[in-house]
Amino acid sequence: MANTPTPHIGAQVGDIAESILLPGDPLRAKFIAETFLDEAKQFNSTRNMFGYTGFYNGKRVSVMGTGMGCPSIGIYSHELIHEYGVKKLIRVGTAGAMQEKVHIRDIVFAMGACMATGYVKQFGLPGDYSCIADFDLLIHAVLAAKERGLSYHVGNVLTSDMFYTPKTVEGGLTFADMGVLAAEMETAALYSNAALGGAQALTILTISDSLVTGEATTAEERQTTFRDMMEVALTAI
Ligand code: HPA
Repeated sequence: MANTPTPHIGAQVGDIAESILLPGDPLRAKFIAETFLDEAKQFNSTRNMFGYTGFYNGKRVSVMGTGMGCPSIGIYSHELIHEYGVKKLIRVGTAGAMQEKVHIRDIVFAMGACMATGYVKQFGLPGDYSCIADFDLLIHAVLAAKERGLSYHVGNVLTSDMFYTPKTVEGGLTFADMGVLAAEMETAALYSNAALGGAQALTILTISDSLVTGEATTAEERQTTFRDMMEVALTAI
């Protein structure tokens, strides 16, 4: 530890809390810090990947953007875990629904992540790795959603390197056939990095669009569901 600042995070050890929320969009990180945290202080602006540390109900919490895709969240989560001693990481993002029962604005807890990405292959394991959420974070977050009466699903997601996915070859099964709930682009890297670094990780997603029906949320709807997801994430962390 302590090769800080790192190439991508301009903070000293101690500037970042043991628990961090990770939205993809750095401006979301700024919004979360300004809206939900007390006494938020900015610790990073390298590459405009804004990061802040403050307090939520008296507990020290950080929030930082990750950018999009496994390589980007892979870099930030690695440095947070290995150089800054971060122990709990919760990604708060959006995803595209892959099942009819998963509606826009629903919350999806990524219990596991299937992979259409080469990220974990680069660990060189002698078999296929299962990317799974930390059970303790997962159960606390799910119970917080249940208590609030939110509409949520718990299961597999698909981490893909592609947002604009070409049509797949006819005849094969799809991840949707396997019950996968939603598509996003970061969780496999986050879960595998956390596993390797001995940290706890969870991804919570709000459904922004449906790959089944083509529905999409309005900016206003995204704001409300985003608030629900943030309260769940902050309660769990
Ligand atoms: N695919 C991948 N990531 C996403 C999507 C999607 O359809 N929607 C929101 N994030």
